[in-house]
Amino acid sequence: MNFNFHRSKFIIFLVIPSSLIVALIFIFLKLPSSPPADGNINCHQINLPYQNPTLPIDQRVTDLMNRMTDKEKIGQMVLVEKNSIHGLNDITQYNLGALLSGGGAGPKQDTPLAWLQMINTFQSAAKETCLGIPLLYGIDAIHGHGNVLGATIFPHFIGLGATRDPDLVKRVAKATAEEMAATGIYWNFAPNLDVAKDIRWGKTYETFGSDPDNVAQLGVAYLEGMQDSLNGYFNVLANPKHFIGGGDMEYGTSRNKKFKIEEGNITIDEKTLRQVHLVPFQKTITARARVIMVSTASWQGKINSDNYYLLTELLKNELGFSGFIVSDWYGVYQIETNKYNSLVRAVNAGIDMVMTPFEYKDFISNIQEALSNGDIKKERIDDAVKRILTVKFETGLFDRPQALPEGLSVISNDQHREIAREAVRKSQVLLKNKNSVLPLSKSLKKILVAGSSADNLGRQAGGWTTEWQGIDGNYGILGTTILEAIKNTVSRDTEVEYNEKGDFFTDNFSDVGIVVVGEKPYAEGWGDIANPSLSSEDLLTIEKVKAKSKKLVVIIVSGRPLNIKEYAKNWDGIIASWFPGSEGQGVADVLFGDYAFTGTLPVNWEL
Ligand code: GLC
Repeated sequence: MNFNFHRSKFIIFLVIPSSLIVALIFIFLKLPSSPPADGNINCHQINLPYQNPTLPIDQRVTDLMNRMTDKEKIGQMVLVEKNSIHGLNDITQYNLGALLSGGGAGPKQDTPLAWLQMINTFQSAAKETCLGIPLLYGIDAIHGHGNVLGATIFPHFIGLGATRDPDLVKRVAKATAEEMAATGIYWNFAPNLDVAKDIRWGKTYETFGSDPDNVAQLGVAYLEGMQDSLNGYFNVLANPKHFIGGGDMEYGTSRNKKFKIEEGNITIDEKTLRQVHLVPFQKTITARARVIMVSTASWQGKINSDNYYLLTELLKNELGFSGFIVSDWYGVYQIETNKYNSLVRAVNAGIDMVMTPFEYKDFISNIQEALSNGDIKKERIDDAVKRILTVKFETGLFDRPQALPEGLSVISNDQHREIAREAVRKSQVLLKNKNSVLPLSKSLKKILVAGSSADNLGRQAGGWTTEWQGIDGNYGILGTTILEAIKNTVSRDTEVEYNEKGDFFTDNFSDVGIVVVGEKPYAEGWGDIANPSLSSEDLLTIEKVKAKSKKLVVIIVSGRPLNIKEYAKNWDGIIASWFPGSEGQGVADVLFGDYAFTGTLPVNWEL
């Protein structure tokens, strides 16, 4: 029998017509066809269930996932730094689901409009994908939308920790969310829930401090303020981080030779880990945390991104966390030198989205290989993608229109600046007040002002401001320096003389000398230091002003306590100002007594 002849007749008269009939059924009934492995035949359709905002989210997720190819699913699991994208078409071609701006990674022209246009351009490329799944775009707006020049810059978390005021922190978060949403960015890598135990850590100022209850209470307030919205969707997605225990990393254990603590090892036992570091995460999960970022720390020698017990058994199963887990900057690839193995271990441990943040093509091919050879099960991929898509729907990404230029007017508006000013004054901690030198009178005859941080918005703001490591200077940051605030507050008859280095050539003594000193901006491991203290230049400035003043007040602008023990006895007044941000007027509010000092230390400061 000529099998070939009969086989071809069989194909012509039976197989082709029946497969055509089946395809027609799927197309006309719009039933989600089970997509072929490498290509989706149902592209750019409209009025599908997942596109219908009146349907329950779980139905929309199911419908969408049934339409997705493996490639489209894997594209949802990678988080790429926007400067690593080789071309807009890659977003479409590789079905990328999430981008981020690393610290300072903005458009060429750093204006709110340019940010909005950049984000909308990325989203348009995502809309060109077969199923038009919108991007989640994340950023570290950890003290206001700090990457954007012109945004309101709030005190860093260490200062908010000193306020112990959940209502205020909620309003700070809400104002931050409004400025972020105006630029089309709906994912904030905040709140930081690390419980800081070692002030030598560069990330200390990103935390609410060392008291777990204060961290938990303010973390919940921040998350609620960030996510609250009127229409049922999250306004901006909050992202508690870094799970878990980073505040207890030990000095000198960093995997990174440039750092001392960041990316270090935690050796505390599980009981301590739960009692101190888990509480803030438990409370924010109850308050509807939907994304949690894993720390690059190791616990008892095992990198957190590789820890199935922490991520799946504890976070997902025991605490019932049903959102998605995202890894932190390159943390997955530090598991082992082989990148394929690192990815397999991280995804199987419970990571749902990998902040690669650079090699997205390798990520996709590695995960495809792991899926096809069974190193990662389809169920794990589907679980991760289901979590991610659910959160995207909850954040309204499929349903809200693109942000428009008219909305940018909310950035740095009076209401936000007033909230920031309130946060500044409530964060000031009075460390010493010998003979009640403070508050100062507004009608003093003469005040000398000096110091490296007196007229420097970049130092007031600290890291994560326009640039990852911040900027030392004013450089276009909108705000009020502490010097300007002093001048704004005193009477017309008061003479204010300023010299940054304290070189005053007056013969008579001033009533008061105010010296504003502290730390230069820094971020993360670059701020790890053995002995946080004042520079010799700052100490010399203080001495020079003291020699010309009846009373001396020192204002310390820093991300943490500094070692001033041997000098503080010579100063009359000392104020911990932390990194107050753009609204320096809030410092003058308490310096001259319009408001009382109410801030309390969020971490221990030995004087
Ligand atoms: C950083 C930080 C993390 C931040 C992330 C994205 O390395 O550890 O807090 O959110 O990368 O910038």
